[in-house]
Amino acid sequence: MSNSFQVIIFLFLSVFSCVGFAGNNESQKTKQKTVLVTGASSGIGLKITQVLSKNGYLVYAGARRDSDLKRLDAMDNVESVRLDVTDQAQIDAAVKKIAGKGRGLDALVNNAGIAVIGPLIEVPVEELDWQLNVNVLGPYRVTQAFAPMIIESKGRITTTGSISGILSGSMFGQYSMSKHAIEAFTDSLATEMERFDVQVSVIEPGNYASKIGESFVKRLEKKGYWGEDSAYANELAGMKAGMGNASQSKDPQEVAEAVMHALFSDKPKRRYLVVPNASQAYFTLGQAMTELLQLNQDQPYSFTRDQLIEMMDAQMKSL
Ligand SMILES: NC(=O)c1ccc[n+]([C@@H]2O[C@H](COP(=O)([O-])OP(=O)(O)OC[C@H]3O[C@@H](n4cnc5c(N)ncnc54)[C@H](OP(=O)(O)O)[C@@H]3O)[C@@H](O)[C@H]2O)c1
Repeated sequence: MSNSFQVIIFLFLSVFSCVGFAGNNESQKTKQKTVLVTGASSGIGLKITQVLSKNGYLVYAGARRDSDLKRLDAMDNVESVRLDVTDQAQIDAAVKKIAGKGRGLDALVNNAGIAVIGPLIEVPVEELDWQLNVNVLGPYRVTQAFAPMIIESKGRITTTGSISGILSGSMFGQYSMSKHAIEAFTDSLATEMERFDVQVSVIEPGNYASKIGESFVKRLEKKGYWGEDSAYANELAGMKAGMGNASQSKDPQEVAEAVMHALFSDKPKRRYLVVPNASQAYFTLGQAMTELLQLNQDQPYSFTRDQLIEMMDAQMKSL
């Protein structure tokens, strides 16, 4: 082969490989999926942000404080967005900002949440109002605002519910009410979004390490709505000690992995029960069964045990 022919081949291959590389980069860029995660400053939301961004997704990470926004911006594949889910003006600004990037939005994770805990007959209505404002109206507002972008991408929506969406223990009434609402929100939204090829799910974690308990204790101490004069004073110390210390709780890695499955697997599930031990699974499923049996009990159209098992078999096939 002559030298000049070799040079031409070399130049051709170089140009070809450059074009090919640029093409790959371009398609990687256009293929990079985008996700908005609310409440990304700590706990489960931060873990979701870390896991998704490490897996190559671009995360728009919602946070409220400047220091958190800065910290999130420093992460690869993460762009922070100022987002208080109780503030419609901030939500609208977030839509504008994300739409303005021109990358669309493939998924929304309604994760931001708080916990109000205490006796239902004593905790002031304002505290319940705040609980529902963040945990229920928050996902409602944010989902409505981003729905056009999610529909456009035929994307996915998931919300961080809780095993408290099934369980309703003593002193957890306000929080459980908010998480039960997320169960209903998810089922109705999933059905309504079917026509747009948008899939909807709920993640139901048990106890995992985060700041939620600590924040509850801080707020309780500031507001003083549950104190020594309560009819439930005996429960107070234990609740504060338990909620205020998350050091024994498991890291929420598996919760974030469930979110990734809900957002990007070919076959997302409607419900993701993610618990750190068997007893939390046992109690949650046990409660769901108790409710089923209570509904069936002593009513004109009760089903027999065999009929219930038959119904369960049919349901299992349809999952
Ligand atoms: N940890 C658990 O064991 C567990 C179990 C089941 C379900 N969950 C759910 O998981 C979700 C995340 O909670 P977490 O446990 O990870 O607690 P966390 O560490 O306290 O995180 C809560 C996140 O929500 C944000 N947030 C609170 N109010 C907000 C508002 N008005 N607007 C926007 N963001 C707001 C917080 O931001 P700031 O830092 O600005 O306050 C923080 O980023 C919640 O929905 C919670 O109910 C947690």
